[in-house]
Amino acid sequence: MTPNARRWPLELDAAEMRAMLAAASDRVIEHIVSLGEQPASYGTDGRAEARALVEPMPATATDFDELLDLVFDRATPHSFNTAGPGYLAYIPGGGVFPSAVADLIANAINRYVGVWVAAPALVQLELNVIRWFCSAMGFGHGSGGILTSGGSLSNLTAIVAARRERLPDDFRTGVIYTSDQAHHSVRKSAVLAGFAESQVRQVATNDRQEMDVQALCARIAEDRAAGLEPFLLVGSAGTTNTGAVDPLDTLADVADAERMWLHVDGAYGAFFMLTGRGRAAMKGIERADSITLDPHKGLFLPYGTGCLLVRDEQALRRAHATFADYMPVMQHDPDFVDFCDLSAELSRDFRGLRVWLPLKLFGMDAFRAALDEKLDLARWAAEELRTIPDMEIVCEPRLSLTAFRLVPAGVQGTALDDLNRDIMARVNARQNVYLTGTMVSGRFALRICVLSFRTHMDRMEACLRDLRAAVAEVRGD
Ligand SMILES: Cc1ncc(COP(=O)(O)O)c(C=O)c1O
Repeated sequence: MTPNARRWPLELDAAEMRAMLAAASDRVIEHIVSLGEQPASYGTDGRAEARALVEPMPATATDFDELLDLVFDRATPHSFNTAGPGYLAYIPGGGVFPSAVADLIANAINRYVGVWVAAPALVQLELNVIRWFCSAMGFGHGSGGILTSGGSLSNLTAIVAARRERLPDDFRTGVIYTSDQAHHSVRKSAVLAGFAESQVRQVATNDRQEMDVQALCARIAEDRAAGLEPFLLVGSAGTTNTGAVDPLDTLADVADAERMWLHVDGAYGAFFMLTGRGRAAMKGIERADSITLDPHKGLFLPYGTGCLLVRDEQALRRAHATFADYMPVMQHDPDFVDFCDLSAELSRDFRGLRVWLPLKLFGMDAFRAALDEKLDLARWAAEELRTIPDMEIVCEPRLSLTAFRLVPAGVQGTALDDLNRDIMARVNARQNVYLTGTMVSGRFALRICVLSFRTHMDRMEACLRDLRAAVAEVRGD
């Protein structure tokens, strides 16, 4: 199928559109139903496959089926199977199918949601989502937020808002506090927001990788004595490294006492607030001034779906709202919102539909149950790991992430790191699951992060089976 040679080739007719959708949906569904059988990662370094796809800009038309073949048969297989059940690496993403359908609809109707007046009712759907999230986090009246492209952009937006709320235009004396376990996007965002790296304190953590509050308070006092202005405290609700949750309630006390803005980076963990165990682990999050939460992680949505919530919507507006003669009049009705007034973006995709549609279609209880299942699976994995001789649980699962390593008697230092890297390589080579590692207190540890809606007990059993086999191999059993 090639675009026909009509006068306006960019405008497909109804039959062409139907044929295109049918061909694409066949390939998509074929791909999705085989996700569980596809390898969890690819076996090469990907260079040859990437180079083979270098091509000049096309001047003329190409057959659609040929393009689908390229995407599905040549390009996609050389990737981590991030949508598959065996992806237990980094922080797994999601990709519930109705979101893909929502994106198709949103892109096809291509309406403008950056300003309220351009599509009030569509904006309302996205605003509903924001308000649902605010209530799930315990934020009350006056709170609000925006959907972003991901956690990094949410953290950046929060830091800019905090800076504009709490510091003068010359903010060279402002100081930001976070832990040495915080996601690197916090430091990066601080720099992008105009701070020098020397204005970011990475407070030490305790043996559970949670921010050490005494060290925090001592550092704040020291900085105040030096004439600096501590203004922003960034806690983590689930670190990427080990899943640690900072003592949020205590951080809120410190922020109150020190008149600092409290931002909680819950990109990985915040949606566990939908579960009882998550609410217990993240007590105090509702006292934050802003929260990063990533629907493309904890709500199993496709990549490109982040969120920033703020206790006071006006703070985001004060930080971002501006004026231009060619723009329409912005909303002053507090029930409504012009998203461009709350964010750095003006034109953007209608990402709200990608969130709204699956939440309505499945209902929140389905997401709550899936999150509870992830908590169960991570705890199950930790219990199973404990039964492997010499296996040390480096980090108990606080949410759905556990870190561990084999510690055979007499093996230490870099030899121990190498041994555990070898175990990980052997597990990954089996391609049933894909694991990544990290450094915890200077030593290499493997991680299992369970967050895909497609990961169930059968895949966890495969993971443990592969781990036991890899351990037996390195022991020479
Ligand atoms: C705790 C935390 N914060 C922020 C981010 C950055 O999010 P994104 O990759 O969506 O930009 C991540 C990503 O894994 C994360 O785990």
